Amino acid sequence: MKNSKIAGLGKYIPKRVVTNAELETLMDTSDTWIQERTGIKERHYAKAGEETASWMGAQASLKALEMAGLQASDIDFIIFATLSPDFEFPGSGCPLQVHLEIPGIGALDVRNQCSGLVYSPAIADQFIKTGMYKNILVVGSEVQSTALNLKTEGRDIAVIFGDGAGAAVLTATENNAEGILTSNMHADGRFARELFMEDPGSIKPKRITKEMIDEGTIYPYMNGKYVFKHAIQKFPAAIEEALTKTGYKLEDVDLIIPHQANKRITEAIQMRLKLPKEKIFSNIEKYGNTTAASIPIALTEAYEQGLIKKGSLVCLAAFGSGFTWGANLIRF
Ligand code: UT7
Repeated sequence: MKNSKIAGLGKYIPKRVVTNAELETLMDTSDTWIQERTGIKERHYAKAGEETASWMGAQASLKALEMAGLQASDIDFIIFATLSPDFEFPGSGCPLQVHLEIPGIGALDVRNQCSGLVYSPAIADQFIKTGMYKNILVVGSEVQSTALNLKTEGRDIAVIFGDGAGAAVLTATENNAEGILTSNMHADGRFARELFMEDPGSIKPKRITKEMIDEGTIYPYMNGKYVFKHAIQKFPAAIEEALTKTGYKLEDVDLIIPHQANKRITEAIQMRLKLPKEKIFSNIEKYGNTTAASIPIALTEAYEQGLIKKGSLVCLAAFGSGFTWGANLIRF
């Protein structure tokens, strides 16, 4: 069986920077509160209608293709992870194809929110292992700014989230010592309502009503403290599961790339695993939480900064809405 190696990485960050100071003008919040509770200094907001989830995903993909030395036409399949698709349906993999001018190949959207870029490489790996596809484009892209309540009542969520995109090209390799060594994926739907966007959804007799808008159920809801407590348990558990499965030890891992949910969560993982600070990547201060885009953006930056080299052992881990969580252990 073949392995799947990461041949290319890329990111696209929307131009508009939104600082904590700018949010202070919109709601009752403070730079001090945001930095102390989350570590975030600024985030980026997409230009609505132009920097769409699929368009940003395409920009990140072009960079990933360039690094891989491939053309868009070499891609056999697309996996697109997002909670903020261009349309309610179809999935954003379809408009992504149009931007990249590669109609006809399969396009699968993954709706696993913050865990999207752990689930997506795991799915791609299965298609590559069986020999069904050779080159798979995995994309995480989010436009969250247009679904935030930027008034004081929405401040606990609004200050955290940002927009952006990241992509990876996964390619088949005959070398079983490199590429994705293992993946684990978990979910516990009993906690769906602890971090969710209730409306519009098919559970209601009418998709959109004035009451939904007035009551704010069209905005994301998060039971922050509850999510936090689960996150700091599940991140280390997923990482340890990946290590146990492959026989590696924590000391063997060169870099852990966690989904960027909150700097305090990253620090808690570091403490629980007794890791030196430099072994766990953090860039949340620049981008906030970009959900499915956070891991590929972080992975691309870690690579650009020389923290990942040929031979590096890297662990991706995520936890978020669903609840869903998981990890991938990858040899570059
Ligand atoms: O990516 C998916 C997974 N997501 C996560 O893992 C996020 C997990 N949760 C968190 O990161 C944190 O719980 C938050 C950052 C969301 C909140 O931090 P917290 O330390 O849990 O604060 P809190 O919700 O308990 O709020 C503390 C206080 C409250 O005021 P009172 O009741 O103590 O008077 C809030 O109303 O801070 C207030 N508050 C704010 N104040 C200023 C909440 N949001 C804000 C804000 N600015 N933006």
